[in-house]
Amino acid sequence: MTDNVYRTLLELYKPLPLSDRLFVRIRLLLSNLYQLEHYVPREGKILDIGCGHGVLSNLLAITSPQRQVLGIDIDAKKIAAAQRTIGERGNIEFEVGDAAFLPNHSFQAVTIADVMYLIPPDIQRAILASIACVLEPNGLLIWKTHSHYPRWKYATTYAQEWLMTKLGPTKGAGIFFMNCEESLQAIRSAGLHPIVVPMPSHRPYSDILFLGCKS
Ligand SMILES: C[S@@+](CC[C@H](N)C(=O)[O-])C[C@H]1O[C@@H](n2cnc3c(N)ncnc32)[C@H](O)[C@@H]1O
Repeated sequence: MTDNVYRTLLELYKPLPLSDRLFVRIRLLLSNLYQLEHYVPREGKILDIGCGHGVLSNLLAITSPQRQVLGIDIDAKKIAAAQRTIGERGNIEFEVGDAAFLPNHSFQAVTIADVMYLIPPDIQRAILASIACVLEPNGLLIWKTHSHYPRWKYATTYAQEWLMTKLGPTKGAGIFFMNCEESLQAIRSAGLHPIVVPMPSHRPYSDILFLGCKS
């Protein structure tokens, strides 16, 4: 991420309390959300599911004003915080919403970053099928999650997510990481063509990206 984008992004969070601003900085430090940006079409309607404080949604909106971004999350407090970052911008909206009940619109791309594993596998599969329905022809799913390998990174990821859901601020039904083959199969069953994108980094997390292309 360029310094300029990073500064612009942080600037949006200035109206928020220190705790939220710190959370956003830590989120940017611990995860390469910027890698996802490269796969998102430069224009058109983009749905960011489980947007939390809206870091990825905002990143997509500021890096291309031709994107019309809608971020949804089940956590009303996070959505209220994300809405405070909008200011005068017209290319971004945030709404309370559940991944299991997607908006009745079509989208060029759907992003879902570090959300699916908070949802039981059967519902994950149903959500992938709904995503395939709301994608326009040639639309793209961009799904960031975590691999089961390397094992030590998976263990760190699992422990952190466990703490975040049990003691911390993340809402979720539990922790349900699908393995790589299960994830690929779920994308195929949804009618999308899957591609795996590694996310190598020095961070102690087993990040991985799956793309799902609609024909
Ligand atoms: C680890 S945070 C990731 C937030 C954001 N995607 C990011 O990358 O910064 C997971 C988010 O998923 C949201 N979430 C969990 N279950 C959800 C569901 N069924 N529908 C929508 N959002 C959900 C949580 O409220 C939380 O904000």
